[in-house]
Amino acid sequence: MEQSNKTNQMNANGNEYFVIKAKDNGVHVIGLTRGQDTRFHHTEKLDKGEVMIAQFTEHTSAVKVRGKAVIMTKYGIVDTEE
Ligand code: TRP
Repeated sequence: MEQSNKTNQMNANGNEYFVIKAKDNGVHVIGLTRGQDTRFHHTEKLDKGEVMIAQFTEHTSAVKVRGKAVIMTKYGIVDTEE
């Protein structure tokens, strides 16, 4: 019961995966906190060709990508401008 409540809550919050592929060295993938307080909680640095597969979680509601990269989501593929 506890587990299924947690699962339902995560589905409402969105636990989708997304993929980020760095097209340059020094791409930053920045996770922003869920809830009242919106702040950076993690920065991951990717070099050219590196791929990060991540999820939106109970801790992460938004992601900012800095640098040249391709981002793949269920909504489509988008790339950052140079
Ligand atoms: N500890 C973080 C979390 O569970 C890890 C994480 C998940 C993350 N998705 C992210 C970090 C996206 C940066 C960007 O939420």
